Amino acid sequence: MTHPTTPAKKPFEEDFALPGDGDDDADAVRRPAGPGESSRASRHWWDRNADEYQGDHGAFLGDDGFVWGPEGLDEADARLLGDPASLTGRRVLEIGAGAAQCSRWLAGRGALPVALDISFRQLQHSRRIDADHIAAGRAAAAVPAVQADAAVLPFADGSFDLACSAYGAVPFSADSGRLMREVHRVLRPGGRWVFSVTHPIRWAFPDEPGPEGLTALSSYFDRRPYVEQDEQGRAVYVEHHRTVGDRVRELVAAGFRLLDLVEPEWPEGLEQEWGGWSPLRGRLLPGTAVFVSVRD
Ligand SMILES: C[S@@+](CC[C@H](N)C(=O)[O-])C[C@H]1O[C@@H](n2cnc3c(N)ncnc32)[C@H](O)[C@@H]1O
Repeated sequence: MTHPTTPAKKPFEEDFALPGDGDDDADAVRRPAGPGESSRASRHWWDRNADEYQGDHGAFLGDDGFVWGPEGLDEADARLLGDPASLTGRRVLEIGAGAAQCSRWLAGRGALPVALDISFRQLQHSRRIDADHIAAGRAAAAVPAVQADAAVLPFADGSFDLACSAYGAVPFSADSGRLMREVHRVLRPGGRWVFSVTHPIRWAFPDEPGPEGLTALSSYFDRRPYVEQDEQGRAVYVEHHRTVGDRVRELVAAGFRLLDLVEPEWPEGLEQEWGGWSPLRGRLLPGTAVFVSVRD
């Protein structure tokens, strides 16, 4: 289930080395991985791979676009956070924001976003885009950015009106139940929490865009995390699986009510692949699940 990246595009600042560099030969296994190991692996992995990720996918995401996943479901059309006109003045927390493209879209609708991510390098990309936009007169200020783990949110209770995440921290968090409780805590009553993840059914299939990705080889019910580890057995990439029912139970246990579960269909004419997300598989299997919930 490794997240798709391809060889690096030009870094925009001088390169920097991090622990785990040179782990291209990492072993992929299914084994337990706790919160500390998972967060450490995510921070380092995303710091190392942010340049490639933004180079490869930045154009698809759009510097101030809000897409929920590789199918290109656009918040402007989907309105999962509500009518765009209602976003003015809303305090919005974007979790696992990457370069904060969604936050920038929200700011363009008059909302007051805060972009949170565990990776400093991802947030540097956010700053890079902000600097370009300010210089071009497209924005007056940078999106406020916070480096933190989504399972331990550094905000007071009820600080936000809305929370969102497009493929952000949720699948990388070993304790996503705690993450849900944290989001519940920082939202005001009545606030929506909308997040997208890889559709859980994809965990039964090899993460390949071609025909080999159409035969179920793993159990959908196997909750052991996908772990890439170095030669010392240290995790360098971790992703956690929950079934659809698990996600619903985590939301409900945290105090949310599920309003909708959106499974975007692969659109006619979209030929662009994104790792294991391809037109071939997208026409047959859901690739993304978007959970739309409200804090009671
Ligand atoms: C697939 S990217 C999605 C980024 C952005 N939403 C987008 O659509 O490009 C996942 C992001 O989640 C962040 N992340 C992973 N684990 C996290 C955690 N525990 N807390 C906060 N952010 C996390 C990563 O650093 C990365 O930027």
